[in-house]
Amino acid sequence: MAVNATIDNMPEKDKDTTESRGSIVPKALWTSKQVKVNIRCRPILPSDTENLTSYNDTTHAERAVDVNEPEGQVIVALDKTFQFDVAFDGDAGQDAVYRSSVAPLVQHFVDDCINCSIMAYGQTGSGKTHTMMGGGDDTDSRGMIPRAIEDVFAGSNPTTDFISVSFFEIYNEKLYDLLAKDKMKVPLMLREENHRFQIPYLSMHDVSDVSSALQYLEKGNKTRTTASTGQNETSSRSHALFRIHLRRNFETDTRNQALLNLVDLAGSESVRKTEAAGERLNEGSNINKGLLALGNCIADICQR
Ligand SMILES: Nc1ncnc2c1ncn2[C@@H]1O[C@H](COP(=O)(O)OP(=O)(O)OP(=O)(O)O)[C@@H](O)[C@H]1O
Ligand SMILES: [Mg+2]
Repeated sequence: MAVNATIDNMPEKDKDTTESRGSIVPKALWTSKQVKVNIRCRPILPSDTENLTSYNDTTHAERAVDVNEPEGQVIVALDKTFQFDVAFDGDAGQDAVYRSSVAPLVQHFVDDCINCSIMAYGQTGSGKTHTMMGGGDDTDSRGMIPRAIEDVFAGSNPTTDFISVSFFEIYNEKLYDLLAKDKMKVPLMLREENHRFQIPYLSMHDVSDVSSALQYLEKGNKTRTTASTGQNETSSRSHALFRIHLRRNFETDTRNQALLNLVDLAGSESVRKTEAAGERLNEGSNINKGLLALGNCIADICQR
């Protein structure tokens, strides 16, 4: 599972800044590239090995992937090495992932009113929803989105900053508002204005504290489309975008605004492994189509 982070409206002066990588990525490093890719390998789950019979099979499955955290490398099948900006092995907790992969961007968003995006990308069942939303009821397992909400409120000034949230999903290539009053799912329109995409009827909700923002996150998650597949009991069948909108009133009356996109993508999937048919198959093909388009966009940004 990879966490991609991008900064959209990066000031020109920050683009060439470089600094060596530490265990916690320094703020200057975030501004040195438009896209960073951090990888998190989830631990082996009992369901991963339940069909393996012999000791050798199980041992092989457990040792198929090695993570060299200090070097940011993942080694597959002992000999193929892949390089990332940061790598986490299965023991890494939510807090460690948040502090090095997400917190610097959230800080940048609040301090400098800069557009930022965090995307969880990876194969189905690899842990994207666990990472972004959270893995249980205890506070340690809070995901990247609840933690980002907390930091946005901790870093903002209630007298000058106005925060609102929106939450939508892209399901079968159509947009749906996860916070709409109307429970009927009616697709939203997407409009392009001045080279920027707008979603005119997407509902926006003012939030004044962490708990009200979390309530919207929880509400939208309940509406989001999930289903059981051959590879994940609770597979996300849509790409979900939770957005935090920041509007800042300076004393000069100059209004500034920025958007923090927190994205839990649906996972790429192979029909053979998910055993999808009918509606699940249609969803799977739309998921793969959307991910391919996203991959092309990211490749293009990286080349600029
Ligand atoms: N770091 C982790 N530690 C413990 N369990 C994890 C971890 N990451 C994922 N899991 C477990 O693995 C399973 C699959 O995770 P999850 O649903 O987050 O995958 P996903 O990438 O969102 O899949 P999909 O693309 O199908 O939505 C879940 O049971 C989840 O609790
Ligand atoms: Mg998911």
